[in-house]
Formats: sequence, C-alpha cells, structure tokens
Amino acid sequence: MKLSIVQFTPIFGDKQENLRRIHAHSERIDADVIVFPELCTTGYFFQNKEESRFHAETPDGEAVHFFRSMAHNHDAMVVAGFAEKDGDKVYNSAMIISPGEPLRIYRKTHLFYKERHCFDDGDTGFFVVKHHRHDARIGTMICYDWRFPESARVLGLKGADVIVCPSNLVTNVWHIAMPARALENKVYVAVPNRAGEEIRGTEGEKVKFTGRSVIYSYNGSEMAKAGDEADEILTVEIDPLATRDKSFNALNDIFRDRRPEMYAK
Ligand code: ACM
Repeated sequence: MKLSIVQFTPIFGDKQENLRRIHAHSERIDADVIVFPELCTTGYFFQNKEESRFHAETPDGEAVHFFRSMAHNHDAMVVAGFAEKDGDKVYNSAMIISPGEPLRIYRKTHLFYKERHCFDDGDTGFFVVKHHRHDARIGTMICYDWRFPESARVLGLKGADVIVCPSNLVTNVWHIAMPARALENKVYVAVPNRAGEEIRGTEGEKVKFTGRSVIYSYNGSEMAKAGDEADEILTVEIDPLATRDKSFNALNDIFRDRRPEMYAK
C-alpha cells in the first residue's frame, strides 16, 4: 500500500491558485492515501474570526468537491486541511474523503496561538477511518495536536495503523516527539508540513513554516523526509497489518501492558 504526503507553499487567501498548485502536485502522485497540509486551500495566519469565516467553506463547498474528485480520479483516500464553516462556527478541519464513501471531517482539538481568535474548539474528537480498498485504518490529528500524546494514543487505541497529521508547523521540536508517538503506539505517522512564510496583521507579524515533512515507520525511524523550503512529494510503501501486533517480546505488549488505573491524576 502506498502513502504519499505533499509539502508545498500555499498563498494566503488565494484559493484558486492553491487548488491549482495542489492539482499540479496530485498529477504526479500514484498512491492509495494522499495527505496534504493543514489549511492547505487558504493559507494559515488568519487574524480574527471574521476573516477565517470569510475564507471558510461548508462541506458542500468547492474545496470538498475538488478533493472528492481527486479521490475519485486516483481511487485514493485523500486527507486535506481546510477552514470549515458550520453555522456561526468556524473550525480548523481536515476532510477525509474516499471514493464512494461518506465525507468525514476531523476538527482540530488543540488550537495553537492566534488560532484561538479565529477558530472554534474542535468537537469531533479523534476517530479512525477504514481504507476503501485495503485493510488499513487511518486516524487523523492536526498539527499542534502532536504536543498532546493523548491524541496519538487515543487514535492508536481506536485501531489506527497510520496516523496522518496535516500540519503548518513553525518550529522543529516536533521532530523529537512525533517519532516517539509512532514508536509508543506502533503506528506509522505521516506529517505533511508546509513551507514558506506569511506576514499578516497591522503589526506585520511574520510566521515562518518549517517544512521538513516526514513519514515515520512504526518503530519511529524516518522512511522519507523533505527539505525545509521546496515543494516535495514523499511516497513510501507501508504494511498496515504489521502495526497490529503490539507485542515486542514474549511477555510485553504495549497496549495490554497499559495500567490506566494507575494514571488517574
Ligand atoms: C500549528 O498548530 N499550526 C502550529
């Protein structure tokens, strides 16, 4: 089974150009699961709720139609971050779309920095989606969710073989934690990050995105890694069934050995 992630640089507020770039990248991909970064259709650094609502879309909007058609054309599961509007709420969301399957949407649980001014707290919780052709279960979290080991743990306990994490990361410290999430849950972890920078607001505040997208194997090792600036597509062959046996010797199993009764605060 082939998994691809796409690193690229969206232009803030220019959805048509971003969709054009995403489409051009997708033309070069042949994979069963294709994952794009957080907020990949709009760019990231919204300044307030009015602005994020203006750019956000409902699930019957252009972005979902666009990625549904990509999923159909590639016969692939596609995961892509977008700004989602639902009534008076706006979420930092990821769509999970497979051909012929109902749309699933994950809404980011842990909001980072000024996202708090622009988005509502995600209310979907973490869940796992079965691949439409392969025996594979994909769980989604978004960017800053990585700082909370509970995010990946819950996805692991719910049966994820692969955790995908559409991201707009602004540091490099996550390279310490994400491989640990892979190892301690024995799951693949795929992190499509974006590159470039955005300068926004009256003070001209700059955020710089750090690229270096990675796919980690379930032992925490790097299977593929991008550079920090250029657009890149990373594709690896994965074996989802290899993640299911959580034992690592005759007596230890990382999920069966858990003792939740000892973890109460
Ligand atoms: C982030 O959550 N976009 C850092």
